[in-house]
Amino acid sequence: MSDVLELVDVSVVRDGRALVDEVSWSVKEGERWVILGPNGAGKTTLLNIASSYLFPTKGSATILGEQLGGVGTDVFELRPRIGMAGIAMAEKLPKGQTVLQTVLTAAYGMTATWHEDYDPVDEERAKAFLDRLGMNDYLDRKFGTLSEGERKRTLIARAMMTDPELLLLDEPAAGLDLGGREDLVRRLGRLARDPYAPSMIMVTHHVEEIAPGFTHVLMIRQGKVLAAGPVEMELTSRNLSLCFGLPLVVERVGDRWTAQGLPLK
Ligand SMILES: Nc1ncnc2c1ncn2[C@@H]1O[C@H](COP(=O)(O)OP(=O)(O)OP(=O)(O)O)[C@@H](O)[C@H]1O
Ligand SMILES: [Mg+2]
Repeated sequence: MSDVLELVDVSVVRDGRALVDEVSWSVKEGERWVILGPNGAGKTTLLNIASSYLFPTKGSATILGEQLGGVGTDVFELRPRIGMAGIAMAEKLPKGQTVLQTVLTAAYGMTATWHEDYDPVDEERAKAFLDRLGMNDYLDRKFGTLSEGERKRTLIARAMMTDPELLLLDEPAAGLDLGGREDLVRRLGRLARDPYAPSMIMVTHHVEEIAPGFTHVLMIRQGKVLAAGPVEMELTSRNLSLCFGLPLVVERVGDRWTAQGLPLK
């Protein structure tokens, strides 16, 4: 299987501090990874590298076979092959565009604005992705008026629009209510188990948000890799406790996960 992402000794240094500290990590085609780690651990920074928007200070990053900063690598050719849904993206998108337009514009560059000359084939694709995310009734709603959960689902549909080979999701369930979270986890689970879906990397703070079908977990703390490998092997109470810096018990309940702190004595 070919590498979707290959980081070798990657560091990102800002103001003399390593936000990402000598990370070596490889994601193979078809794998679905979860990144877990406390606030400030470097999760979003890693996704920014994986999306080709941030270059490492040290080490080498190869995305879909193209080395960042390498001879012959054109990030503008690479970027449409990667779908990214995150908070930073939401802020860049015009609030006055409809949901359908927001998804459609993905096919024409990152934050392009609306033109009338869209291909009907693209419109059908955009509608199909929105339907898959349960956003069928919102096609004409202004993006700026959506609730948090509706916005998240629109962004995922948008990220799918370029038919990416790699899909990056930064905290897709943050800010959702319990019903919204469960709905999203179900939809992400369906996507994760779809053999035709892209390779996926999802950042989350909560093991409850790991959808069935996610195969691997990367745990980071203070920019360093603490554990990386198959979910069943690495998502242990020990690793999670080290990762978040407090005693935690993680349990598998059916095909989902749950974690809680040990009661104080
Ligand atoms: N351009 C920058 N210059 C200096 N420090 C930065 C820069 N960007 C991020 N940081 C710092 O790097 C660290 C890692 O940030 P990052 O956004 O990757 O964390 P995160 O794991 O995604 O956290 P969260 O869970 O809060 O989203 C943080 O301490 C952050 O303040
Ligand atoms: Mg983050």
